Amino acid sequence: MTDVAAPTPLPASAASAPHAGSPAGGPPAALDPHALRADFPILAQRPHGKPLVYLDSAATSQKPLAVVEAMDRYYREYNANVHRGIYEISERATAAYEGARSKVARFVNAPSAHEIVWTRNATEAINLVAYSWGRRHLGQGDAVVLTEMEHHANLVPWQILVQEVDGDLEFIPITDEGILRLDVYEVLLRLHPKLVAFTHVSNTLGTINPVREMVEMAHAAGALVLVDGAQAVPHLAVDIQELGADFYVFSGHKMLGPTGSGVLWARRELLDAMPPFLAGGDMIREVRLRRTEFNDVPWKFEAGTPDISAAIGLGVAADYLRALGMDRVRAHERELVAYALDVLPREVPGIALYGPPADVRGGVVPFNLPGIHPHDVAQILDRAGVCIRAGHHCTMPLHERLDLAATGRASFSVFTTKDDVDALAAGLREVQRVFGG
Ligand SMILES: Cc1ncc(COP(=O)(O)O)c(C=O)c1O
Repeated sequence: MTDVAAPTPLPASAASAPHAGSPAGGPPAALDPHALRADFPILAQRPHGKPLVYLDSAATSQKPLAVVEAMDRYYREYNANVHRGIYEISERATAAYEGARSKVARFVNAPSAHEIVWTRNATEAINLVAYSWGRRHLGQGDAVVLTEMEHHANLVPWQILVQEVDGDLEFIPITDEGILRLDVYEVLLRLHPKLVAFTHVSNTLGTINPVREMVEMAHAAGALVLVDGAQAVPHLAVDIQELGADFYVFSGHKMLGPTGSGVLWARRELLDAMPPFLAGGDMIREVRLRRTEFNDVPWKFEAGTPDISAAIGLGVAADYLRALGMDRVRAHERELVAYALDVLPREVPGIALYGPPADVRGGVVPFNLPGIHPHDVAQILDRAGVCIRAGHHCTMPLHERLDLAATGRASFSVFTTKDDVDALAAGLREVQRVFGG
């Protein structure tokens, strides 16, 4: 059998400047987003007759052809259920499905592919932990520490849990720039929380949080740590072993992979000790009428027929990003953020920008035009082919903290260019013109 976990052969554009370094042994060449754009067929679309300027990758990224074709190939050539069939195409499906797990494990440097649990998305992964680990380990008066910048996906499941067990939620506050107050975190840890759960990168402000330091502080206080990596894994090098967290979750669709794919990584001994989340087929080893022996991890947490093509697509997306080199991806997006933070205030008089400086910020630029609702901004930008997100971005408490009803948000990916930022600036000027500015 071929090695299904072997790296996917990639188009020349993606592999043209491997992160291993330049042929001369100098520093790796910078990412060329213009060349990469050929890998993303959707970027040839012309909404309203204008070139597509896609600045909403924090909501969901576009998908390279390699991902789309791998999923297409599964359905055309070897569509069958996994772990069951004793026939060739089912064995191929199982090998591709499990091979994708190995690719994703390698991408985030997980110690073992068996610690990678497939979920539908980051939300489901967090709910899995809250339901399975949380209900077993949290009791009356136990605290969970979160932050003021969490996405609702890393807030609401914990609210439900602490209400159920009569526990307590505490929040690490932020500065006005959107940096976590670690001095207050230190004080909160004196409450001996059972769990600290926080985002690696803020989806609204872009803040990159000091995960390793925060994990060390939590562990010293006896707490486990869940990190929400939904906005980190697509944009910077994530080494799960180095970060040292206990649970790490992310979504496939934000990292050039398909919707319906997500990951819970957790330390093996935690997964082994956790009860199942959903029950049914595939998560069992042996079933009697009145009792069941569960399967090993990770399958214990994967009841029912999974989204096979999504897992396969995610494996290819992980290989695609790996071939680009995540340090180059990060450098590219940092440069774009620095460019946007420079150009937008110069080109768009009066624009309000939020969030920390580019060196501690992922590829996210939230903003407001005074006196104009972000929904109106987004609608007028759409006429120019520019796609941004407008609203609260599933961080209502963060907006409340910053005293903002809503924001517009531009977010970047590997295929984003400075031309896209210029198009945003021109579009915002047009918005101001329409509103008489
Ligand atoms: C930081 C963060 N966490 C969690 C999520 C939830 O991701 P999903 O909707 O894929 O479950 C998002 C989505 O925007 C996010 O930005």
